[in-house]
Amino acid sequence: MSDAVRYIPLDARGWRLAMGLRPLEESKWIEVDAHRDEELALKTALLADQRDVVVATRPEGDEASAELLEEIVGNLRTYHPSLPHEVDPEEHPIVAASRLVQEDLCVLVRSDQWRLVAASVCFPSRWSLAEKIGTTMDEIHVPVPDYDDELSQPTNALFERLKPERSFWRLNWTLLDSPLLHQPIATRTSPSGRLEDWSFRVERQTLRRLSRTGAIVFTIRTYVESLDVLCRSDEDFSANLLHALDTAPPSMQRYKGWLGVHDHLRSILSS
Ligand code: HEM
Repeated sequence: MSDAVRYIPLDARGWRLAMGLRPLEESKWIEVDAHRDEELALKTALLADQRDVVVATRPEGDEASAELLEEIVGNLRTYHPSLPHEVDPEEHPIVAASRLVQEDLCVLVRSDQWRLVAASVCFPSRWSLAEKIGTTMDEIHVPVPDYDDELSQPTNALFERLKPERSFWRLNWTLLDSPLLHQPIATRTSPSGRLEDWSFRVERQTLRRLSRTGAIVFTIRTYVESLDVLCRSDEDFSANLLHALDTAPPSMQRYKGWLGVHDHLRSILSS
């Protein structure tokens, strides 16, 4: 369907807020594609120019970040042996790890609760890392409508029982009025105008418990494709997208910046 987006998490039954966890094989933890060089170059530029925006660390995350780096190097050696895995030993391990893969990386450590204590996020989907560092899962998700009632309890329970030998992945998607990977500003404007200017953005997220430090690693791999390309390539895509936009509750439409998008999109597609 699209070279750029590997996953289309739309469901003919309409919008659903769900954890949607699936078991993750170790060999599929890291995903590599043709955009690797370009995305790693973008990371290098962001790490040089906007380090405070794309990296945040607390001392309590240092040991777990070092373990994460070892895990990533080991994973690349085993499952992607042709890729480089040399690192600069002077660099913070989460930054060194982040330079090796297209994924964004987050480390959570349990103190009073699970807290985000180290992260390298070059490709945020309209949220600010500086605002989230040090906070709990519930605090991170405050802007997400219905998270509190529907996802908080199962997500916190999952974190308590996550085992190193059983990892998971899940998908999130949205529509944005920009194809840029680096979007650190939390605006909620709705896409309008031409279909070519809209992007379908998918995040493949993984959750793993590290065995030595017991920390939890959350990875985010972001895929972006022009909505025009996707709508032209598949009729089911357009129908499922319209249905999802139509069935998402108004609070979610506001949060995602989707208000009015359904009608606008339908009129474009039918013209
Ligand atoms: C099973 C685990 C998790 C679930 C079910 C979950 C669920 C969600 C959902 C439904 C959203 C709304 C985004 C959208 O639909 O576009 C969201 C946003 C977000 N999630 Fe999670 N999430 C999980 C784990 C995490 C973890 C471990 C982090 C750690 C960094 C995280 C960070 C965020 C952030 C930063 C946002 C954006 C919040 C904002 O708009 O300010 N999530 N999450």
